[in-house]
Amino acid sequence: MKRVFSGIQPTGNIHLGNYIGALKQFIPLQEEAECFFCIVNLHALTIPRDPEELRQKTRKVAGLYLAVGLDPNKSTLFVQSHNPAHSEAAWLLQCVTRMGELSRMTQYKDKGKGSDSATAGLFSYPVLQAADILLYQTDIVPVGEDQKQHLELSRDLAQRFNGQYGDVFKVPEPKIGKTGARIMGLDHPEKKMSKSADSEYNRIELLDEPDKIVKKFKRAVTDSENEIYYDPENKPGVSNLLAIYSEMSGESIESLVNRYQGKGYGHLKLDTAEAVIQVLKPLQERYEKVMESGEVERILSEGGQRAREVSYQTLLNMQQAMGLA
Ligand code: AQP
Repeated sequence: MKRVFSGIQPTGNIHLGNYIGALKQFIPLQEEAECFFCIVNLHALTIPRDPEELRQKTRKVAGLYLAVGLDPNKSTLFVQSHNPAHSEAAWLLQCVTRMGELSRMTQYKDKGKGSDSATAGLFSYPVLQAADILLYQTDIVPVGEDQKQHLELSRDLAQRFNGQYGDVFKVPEPKIGKTGARIMGLDHPEKKMSKSADSEYNRIELLDEPDKIVKKFKRAVTDSENEIYYDPENKPGVSNLLAIYSEMSGESIESLVNRYQGKGYGHLKLDTAEAVIQVLKPLQERYEKVMESGEVERILSEGGQRAREVSYQTLLNMQQAMGLA
C-alpha cells in the first residue's frame, strides 16, 4: 500500500486555497493509501507567534481536518511537535543540505525579504519539511503548486542522503491538482490566496458565514472587459472565479464558460459564492460538532503515538547510516 504524507501550518485561518489545493485532495487518498496528515506547528514558529493563539489554531486545524472528512480510523492525524523524530531528522538532513539550495527557495525570499532579522528557522524550514515527509517513507505528497520547489528539495535530499550513506529513504512524488493547484487572492488575483495576506478580502476562510462569503466575492477584483473566458495569465480574476466554481461544483471550466456566455461578472460572482456556501455549510456544521465532542485531543494523542512508532525505524536507520547509533 502506498504511503501519503501532507501537512498544514496552524498559522491562520484555513482558506479555500488550502482546501482546494490540499485538504480536498486528502479525502479520496484515505481509501487507497496509508495516510499521515500532520499539523505542522514547528513550521509555524519560523515567524514569531503568540503561544496561546498557536495552541488554539492547532486545535482548530485538527477540527477542520475532521470536519472536511478525514477519518481517524483510516488516516493518522497528528501534531508535528508530538513526534520529536521530526526535529532530530531535520538536523541530520541539514548536515547534507547546502546553503545555496536554501537561499534559492522562493518562499524564503518572499517572507524573509533578505532581512537580517529573518530567523534561521525560516531559512532552514524546507529541511524540516523534508524530514516530515521522508521519515514516513512517503510515496505521495498531495500539495498546492506553491510547494513544488520544496518538494523538489525533499527529493534531492533523499537522493543525496541515499547516495552518501546508503539507501534509507524512499524518494517521494508530489501530487499537485490541475485547476485548483493555485487559488489566487480575491483582492490580488495575480498572487496566491494566503493566510498571511493583510486584507481579509484576500481569502474565503472555511469558517466564514454565508453573508461574508457573498460580500467577499462581490468585492473580488476582475477586469475591465465584460466577457467570461478562462485565461489565467490575462484574466486572472475571472479565471480564478471559474477555477473556484469548477472545484466546488464539479462542473468543468469549459462547461461553465459556455453557460456564462453573455452573462455579466456579477452573475458569475454570486453563483460562485453560492457554490462555495453549499460546500462549506455542512463542513461548518460538522466542525461545530467535532469541537464540542471532546474527541480532538484523544484523536491527536493516538495519532501522535502511531506517528512516533512508524517514523522511529527511519530515524534509527538514519542514525545508523551516519555513524550515530
Ligand atoms: N492559494 C493556494 N492555492 C492552492 N493551494 C494552496 N496551499 C496554500 N495556499 C494555496 C496549499 O495548502 C497547503 C497548506 O499550506 P500551509 O499551511 O503549509 O501554508 P502555505 O503554503 O504557506 O499557505 P498560506 O495559506 O499562504 O499560509 P501563509 O500565509 O502562512 O504562508 C499546502 O499544500 C499548500 O500548497
